[in-house]
Amino acid sequence: MVWLGETLQKLGSAAVKMAQNTSRNNKSTIFEVSYLGLSLLGSWLILRWALKQMDPTKKNVETAKQRKKALSKRLGRPVNTDGQYEDVIAQEVVNPAHINITLQDVGGLDHIIEDLQRNVITPMRRPELFRTSLLRQKRGVLLYGPPGTGKTMLAKALASECNACFINLKASTLLSKWYGDTNKLIAAVWSLAAKIAPTILFIDEVDSLLGHRRAVEHEATTAMKTEFMQLWDGFESASDSNIVVLGATNKRDDLDDAVLRRFSLQYEVRLPQRAQRETILGLLLARHARELGAQYLDPTLMAEVEGRARGTAGPGAAAAGAGAAAGAGAVTGAGAGGASNPGAANGTAAPTGGSALRALAERTEGYSGSDLTELCSMAAAIPFHDAAPTQSSPAPLSLRHFEAVLAAYTPPSRAAQETQAAKRRGGRGVADLPAREDSMRVLAAMFNSMLGSQQQESEEEGSV
Ligand SMILES: Nc1ncnc2c1ncn2[C@@H]1O[C@H](COP(=O)(O)OP(=O)(O)O)[C@@H](O)[C@H]1O
Ligand SMILES: [Mg+2]
Repeated sequence: MVWLGETLQKLGSAAVKMAQNTSRNNKSTIFEVSYLGLSLLGSWLILRWALKQMDPTKKNVETAKQRKKALSKRLGRPVNTDGQYEDVIAQEVVNPAHINITLQDVGGLDHIIEDLQRNVITPMRRPELFRTSLLRQKRGVLLYGPPGTGKTMLAKALASECNACFINLKASTLLSKWYGDTNKLIAAVWSLAAKIAPTILFIDEVDSLLGHRRAVEHEATTAMKTEFMQLWDGFESASDSNIVVLGATNKRDDLDDAVLRRFSLQYEVRLPQRAQRETILGLLLARHARELGAQYLDPTLMAEVEGRARGTAGPGAAAAGAGAAAGAGAVTGAGAGGASNPGAANGTAAPTGGSALRALAERTEGYSGSDLTELCSMAAAIPFHDAAPTQSSPAPLSLRHFEAVLAAYTPPSRAAQETQAAKRRGGRGVADLPAREDSMRVLAAMFNSMLGSQQQESEEEGSV
């Protein structure tokens, strides 16, 4: 633009000079020449603008610029992404400061968290201490187990605890519209991960991305898996790269053997046992009270929840938390009939005395963490629903609201377990059982009535 201004200025002043020095005839010729020059310049500018508008890569270049800006803004530091593939992956990068889940929010997985703290969190936070053949960052961590047990939640909490960038890698990002370019995208995943390290490369439902390599699958998919593993190996041998691949799956058996081998740390996240359910319920209710106000929680429940919170300052202090709950468990009539059961799920001592949380935990055998969240959410809605027509203040959330939900609600995890158990028993699902019983009953009734009528007939014959 500066150049354009200068040219125009020069052209203008030359025209003025010549106009002053020459005759009237010459003046008109010069005017014509400058007019021609200016119109040429104008047409060139218009043409350039039109070509720019028609450029097929224009949109890509602009989005790339925007993504680069967005990533740098998200991470709070300049990141120089290289090429459109890194730009695509950049969209999946999460700043750990923006993850609002901490390890303290994850209930009942203290045994896993403690191990992760030693093997992943400390090496990631202090990489300079972990540079030898024995002291080194583990490159692959796999969380496996039934759905809803907090695997995804734990992965996010881990990233925020490590203060590591989190790349949420999805099969859809790598395989759908970029099908032909998958290998380039995979390479971009690793190069971007290295640029923004420390990085947790999180692959949720990892079986969908790195499942068994089959003869029938598309060759691009097989090539993608092989490429991913090769790059993984490359980064594994580079001692200074601070990248951990964190996978989560409900179907560990579906994973390729080569992938399983690379996940050197594997943790089974099981359905929570009684004491773990108690911890999760305590955390959920504490959060409810924190978000809404303590007056929305029944005082006895509140006392218990507060007691646990005081005891559970860190993940390792769950036992103390359970003990505190016992101390604060001044609940009467909470239905804690089985209070003598020793809690053994994660080594925490079972609270003694009537505890509302314990009573709830005992009633929720087979529930996953996600089912417990749903249960609490449904119970919490009751007082608000009841208060809505009168616009009065909702009653505090209490055990009776939980009782109301428990009377009608079968959580997905338990329903799935029952179906499986029924299948093991008789090759049929739960839903089939009543129908089968009913038909047996109908057959028996028919048989009885036939027998009855035959007897009647023979009696009648006898009496004749
Ligand atoms: N151990 C847990 N502690 C607290 N909340 C949990 C736990 N497990 C599950 N949840 C709740 O259930 C939701 C779903 O869990 P998620 O991590 O997606 O399970 P998964 O990935 O194992 O299928 C979480 O967002 C959380 O609200
Ligand atoms: Mg999940």
